[in-house]
Amino acid sequence: MKETASSVFHFVLITGLAVHAFEPITTTLLLGGGAALTNKLYNYFIENCNEHWIGFNSTGLEVDLQSKLFGQHVASRVILKAVTGFMTNKNPKKPLVLSLHGWTGTGKNFVSQLIAKNIYQRGMFSSFVHLFTATAHFPHEAELEVYKSQLQQWIKGNVSACPQSMFIFDEMDKMHPGLIDSIKPYLDYYVYLDGVSYHKAIFIFLSNNGGEKIVQVALDFWKAGREREEIELKDLETALSLSVFNNKKSGFWHTSLIDSNLVDFFIPFLPLEYKHVVQCGQAEMISRGLTPDEDAIREMAHDMTYFPPEERVFSTKGCKVISSRLDFFI
Ligand SMILES: *[C@@H]1O[C@H](CO)[C@@H](O)[C@H](O)[C@H]1NC(C)=O
Ligand SMILES: *[C@@H]1O[C@H](CO)[C@@H](O)[C@H](O)[C@H]1NC(C)=O
Repeated sequence: MKETASSVFHFVLITGLAVHAFEPITTTLLLGGGAALTNKLYNYFIENCNEHWIGFNSTGLEVDLQSKLFGQHVASRVILKAVTGFMTNKNPKKPLVLSLHGWTGTGKNFVSQLIAKNIYQRGMFSSFVHLFTATAHFPHEAELEVYKSQLQQWIKGNVSACPQSMFIFDEMDKMHPGLIDSIKPYLDYYVYLDGVSYHKAIFIFLSNNGGEKIVQVALDFWKAGREREEIELKDLETALSLSVFNNKKSGFWHTSLIDSNLVDFFIPFLPLEYKHVVQCGQAEMISRGLTPDEDAIREMAHDMTYFPPEERVFSTKGCKVISSRLDFFI
């Protein structure tokens, strides 16, 4: 993208210079027009914080959730409602804060990408989307104070530059409580904080917290012979309740993030079954421009590990390693 833009600039400049050699009057006109044209091209190629680059496609999000996210009827519904409500509200009173919970490989990261894709033209590649992974960005506890001020500056700097910024925090359960506390003010109802308003920003937290309890609910339904699709948000509320998170090992929930009601939606991700792994395999092949090879996909799905050991109902890694696994079978 950047390269294309700069070659266009060169083109405009060179054309201007070439004309200059012949006729000075035309040059002035051309350069004058050139500047306007350059601005247009600039906006076209270089990402800006404006409606050309940022908007919301609610149909797009709905279609993506329905056709690309497998086995997550509860999460799909809540996310669509939450994001649509927020994005269509002209005057939100606080930033949107979503907390996504569930077993590994169930689609938490993937859903964040779908949300980004339907808001920013450039999706996850947008310069307004920021992804932080606890173990990669904030690995050393001794550096806590440095991380804190850095993170606060980043959030403030980016939201000042573009109010519709999105921040995704992966491995929230591994993030130091102090660091989480340091971002709390930005999630709140303040109209302005140091002259900056955060009301149009989106914060998404990803964690495995509550994952085991969610699995338990899904397993109970399975054992009772009930349809997975019968599981409702209210069935999972205990799994996402405070007491479950009152776990000494998980920093996130030591903080007052929950008590202070700064999280707008807690969103549960169900563990995936064999049939969902197959669906992920099919989608993966289609996205590679291949015709799904059903035998290979079933063999690949069959080869994955499932739990509990006797019943083998849920995929241990969800759909996480499908992409690399599939290479062995096709
Ligand atoms: C919104 O998404 C739908 C479905 O993916 C797509 O057909 C449509 O072109 C999108 N609209 C815009 C304005 O991008
Ligand atoms: C925006 O955030 C990124 C990290 O994603 C950081 O590198 C950059 O310095 C921030 N920009 C500002 C203006 O603070």
